Amino acid sequence: MIPDDLSAALAAVREQRPDVRLDVRWHHSVPSTMDEASALAGAGAAHGLVVGADQQTAGRGRRGRVWESPIGAGLYFSLIARPALQSNAALPLLTLAAGVGVRDGIRAALGLTSHLKWPNDVLIDGRKLAGILAEGLAVGTPAQAVVIGVGLNLQSAAYPPDVAARATSLEGELGRPIDRGTVLAEVLVGLWDRLATLERSPGDILQAWRAASPNATGTRVEWDGRTGTTAGIDESGALLVRTTSGVERVIAGEVSWPAFARP
Ligand code: BTN
Repeated sequence: MIPDDLSAALAAVREQRPDVRLDVRWHHSVPSTMDEASALAGAGAAHGLVVGADQQTAGRGRRGRVWESPIGAGLYFSLIARPALQSNAALPLLTLAAGVGVRDGIRAALGLTSHLKWPNDVLIDGRKLAGILAEGLAVGTPAQAVVIGVGLNLQSAAYPPDVAARATSLEGELGRPIDRGTVLAEVLVGLWDRLATLERSPGDILQAWRAASPNATGTRVEWDGRTGTTAGIDESGALLVRTTSGVERVIAGEVSWPAFARP
């Protein structure tokens, strides 16, 4: 059963965008919407199905981290993506497309401009507003799907106090309560549209991502104990870093952005 505030906002967006599949399953509390969505994807659920929850008891982030998910303080949902890609070479661009889509949705809902940090954190003034986790299922088979999980801070209660200096929330940015339904609906439209862009024209996703990520160029970073300066992303979505021994491609591992991240 979808809560009233969400169903009203979804209905309003459905009127304007009947082409977007807004098939949302909502739970009060689940361990992780990733697991719920993966189970549905495994059972054949269609592109665009969304599983969300008011609260997660075992929310997870990238690199095995915990994603705190207290009740009502954030949006927590996972979308099943089965894009008709021209080739699986575009698969790594899916998380970039998701970042662009979430950013678009936030702007459409609230007029707030955010930035992207490689690979797919959504930031305002260097503080993390939302995180995206992509998990592939049966990759390389006809049943292939990617579950895209989004955790978006509505209130500061969404994140633990020890990351407060590096995190932000929509209510914190705007200084007023916000309608989570409108944010959810617009973010889903943003994701839908950017996945469609990825199917049609992967180069447009690269272009949109680059425009949304000023720090992907000319910013000092550290990774795996090494340092360098960002030099954009390549056609496969890898981060390029200029070091004393040349330009390197970073495809995995954590990159820290000393000049960018807050303490
Ligand atoms: C990150 O580490 O930045 C990614 C965080 C992704 C969190 C979301 S919340 C909804 C979905 N369910 C999860 O367990 N994780 C993702």
